[in-house]
Amino acid sequence: MIKIGVFGATGYTGFETIKIIRHHPMAQLMFATSESTAGGNLGDLYPVDWDIPLISAANAPLDKVDAVFCCLPHGASMSAVMAARQANVRVIDLSADFRLTNSSVYQKWYGIAHESPQLLSEAVYGLPEINRAKIRETNLLANPGCYPTTVLLALYPLLKAKLLDPTASIIADSKSGVSGAGRKATLKTHFVEVNENLSPYNIGQSHRHIAEMIQLVNELGGVGDNLIFSPHLVPISRGMLSTVYVSLSDKLTADMVHNLYAETYANQPLMWILPLGQLATMAHTQRTNLAALSVTLVKPDQLIICASIDNLGKGAAGQAVQCFNVMFGLKEETALI
Ligand SMILES: NC(=O)c1ccc[n+]([C@@H]2O[C@H](COP(=O)([O-])OP(=O)(O)OC[C@H]3O[C@@H](n4cnc5c(N)ncnc54)[C@H](OP(=O)(O)O)[C@@H]3O)[C@@H](O)[C@H]2O)c1
Repeated sequence: MIKIGVFGATGYTGFETIKIIRHHPMAQLMFATSESTAGGNLGDLYPVDWDIPLISAANAPLDKVDAVFCCLPHGASMSAVMAARQANVRVIDLSADFRLTNSSVYQKWYGIAHESPQLLSEAVYGLPEINRAKIRETNLLANPGCYPTTVLLALYPLLKAKLLDPTASIIADSKSGVSGAGRKATLKTHFVEVNENLSPYNIGQSHRHIAEMIQLVNELGGVGDNLIFSPHLVPISRGMLSTVYVSLSDKLTADMVHNLYAETYANQPLMWILPLGQLATMAHTQRTNLAALSVTLVKPDQLIICASIDNLGKGAAGQAVQCFNVMFGLKEETALI
């Protein structure tokens, strides 16, 4: 058995991670942390009939685990990650703290200085469909943001085949369920503000997630600065859909594009490429750990990709466990399908 701990167990991603781990045949939960409800029980905070005691992060028995999932807000995650690495424990960090390779870019977007910039070069960006070989070897996994997961999976086949027009904008129009903002109540996520409403926020190039998208698109040989990203909040609990508009550098047929996506993601257990003529919707992936993609050729050099995930599944906890499985040499989809 691989022994694991979860920091931030009371949040949406922490709770979702524990739900998956409870059914994982090779992983055993050794501790779950909370600061505000340390001494309490997870079963008091969620409608479940199982009890998991909550302890403060300072009391986490790092000597008893092989890996930890850090499900903490950015900024707060750094100290838990550092403590785990010092104890030689492998880390899967769901926050943004280790996704950006450059500490000054991190400071620009997150408004705080990075406390352990020396660990940034050790961290591997956790998109298995793109980075599997590096994920296998790493001790510090930076789990991607939910929006970037949709946009990068939508773009990857085109980047790999060098088919994106380098002079044209890449427009990602994205929608998220409200759990994407975490469990803590805020005015923006208040029922009355969200219900029967659809709100764009931080559109253009101003949402923090664009930084990791730009980084990855550049790393994959594209022009990251061509990205325009417009997230929206929709009145549903969970789910995410990005509709991505791109110009191609070559003229293709619909079959050629579909074959490219099907071949790029062949044998990827959590990828679902829809047949031509079908469109990915949120319902394709809600409460699953899958990513569903559809491709629609508008003109021979203009394509729309719809990318659907559950923000807490492939967008967070599901992807984190997928990476954990890769890191520990297990079947990648274990406990996820
Ligand atoms: N929600 C998503 O769809 C999603 C998707 C991808 C990535 N993420 C990332 O995953 C991380 C967790 O997100 P979430 O949605 O699960 O958040 P959340 O629901 O707000 O939960 C946050 C957790 O962190 C703990 N916490 C809060 N402030 C803390 C602090 N200063 N020090 C230590 N612990 C603290 C909370 O514990 P107590 O209040 O019990 O002390 C709670 O367990 C974030 O970095 C987020 O950006 C979220």
